[in-house]
Amino acid sequence: MDFELTPEQREIRGVAREVALAEIEPHAAEWDRAHGFPRSLLDALGALGLLGVCVPEKYGGAGADFVSYILVLEELSRADAGVGVTVAVHTSACTLPILAFGTDAQRARFVPPLARGEQVGCFALTEPGAGSDAGALVTRAEPAEGGWHVVGAKQWITNAAFGGPVLLFARTDPETRTACGVSAFVVDGRQIEVTRTEEKLGLNSSVTNDIAIDAVVDADRLLGEEGHGFRIAMATLDGGRIGIAAQAVGIAQAAYDVALRYAQERQTFGRRIADHQAIQHKLANMSMEIDAARLLTLRAAWLKANDRPHTEEGAKAKLFASETARRQTAEAIQVLGGYGYTKEFPVERYYRDAKITEIYEGTSEIQRLVIARQILGERQAVASE
Ligand code: CAA
Repeated sequence: MDFELTPEQREIRGVAREVALAEIEPHAAEWDRAHGFPRSLLDALGALGLLGVCVPEKYGGAGADFVSYILVLEELSRADAGVGVTVAVHTSACTLPILAFGTDAQRARFVPPLARGEQVGCFALTEPGAGSDAGALVTRAEPAEGGWHVVGAKQWITNAAFGGPVLLFARTDPETRTACGVSAFVVDGRQIEVTRTEEKLGLNSSVTNDIAIDAVVDADRLLGEEGHGFRIAMATLDGGRIGIAAQAVGIAQAAYDVALRYAQERQTFGRRIADHQAIQHKLANMSMEIDAARLLTLRAAWLKANDRPHTEEGAKAKLFASETARRQTAEAIQVLGGYGYTKEFPVERYYRDAKITEIYEGTSEIQRLVIARQILGERQAVASE
């Protein structure tokens, strides 16, 4: 067993940490208030290869492995979790499934602009009546001249307002009501209408939209086989959840960093609060849980990087890391006391940002269901393709 990162993984993490410290972290509070970051940030990340970290060079990416990508997500999220999710959805939930399930022609056409950051991708599965029960989706695609007529509405779509490609799931078999009979399509941003921008508790620098579609998409936009869309969605989320685990680790680490520093400066009863056992126990628990969450995340990432089954391990990583982030950002506020509750320190933002990691890309309840189905042998462990 080797717990060391490779020189390449360390180098990419270093690049991400450097840009996060210089270009992201100093602005995160302002972007939280302004509800957005400048598009030029994505150009800068694209130029560094961070919008296609684990995409082969032949398709415009940096050609690194999935572990490197996960390290990048942790660093970006440590600085600003909204930037983290933007990159995570763009990469895990749009670029990588096109790479995994696309034909050679689809890969050559759609992946390079995404990997270079010229376009920002999104993933449209959820609907007003289909969240945890994703198989209940009602957006439909009917055969039309030259392709498919896609009609429906999707909800809570991260990145839709960027106008880039949308990996969209629609029912192609009208006789079905569940996860069967669903197909995946790569839809152009111009073919959807953004109908709403969501106001959220946290993650304010990222954009979350409702969208509607009523358009004919060309036949060559079908990704994978007709009727296999739900499997594509599930395999995509298997990898995506590892990215959300990394995001949660980044948020928890950021909160811990602030709490640790503060505990060594703040004095009460004539000594640093770090000298009080009550605070020491909090810091010890934070450090332990973050370590455990990171190790679960890296194990799942390593499995995926090596084309091994990772459904259960990814769900465990996401579940544990997200609950750690929620618990430990709350503890960080507790260490800072009244200051932690104000906007003078960033821990209140970390606390708001952490909560969503227990909800999106599958709630904690769904992660437990996924884990239970695996350990009870109700689902076979599958690799990503
Ligand atoms: N890999 C590949 N295929 C899989 C799979 C996996 N991990 N898991 C299931 N499948 C396949 C099954 O084999 C089955 O295929 P066949 O019918 O061809 O045999 C099909 O998918 C249906 O599987 P299930 O019967 O297990 O489906 P289900 O209806 O019971 O649902 C579920 C399973 C796990 C609850 C699923 O609905 C789910 O994951 N729900 C949560 C949805 C979710 O995570 N949404 C996130 C939205 S995206 C987002 O949040 C992005 C963002 O903004 C950050």
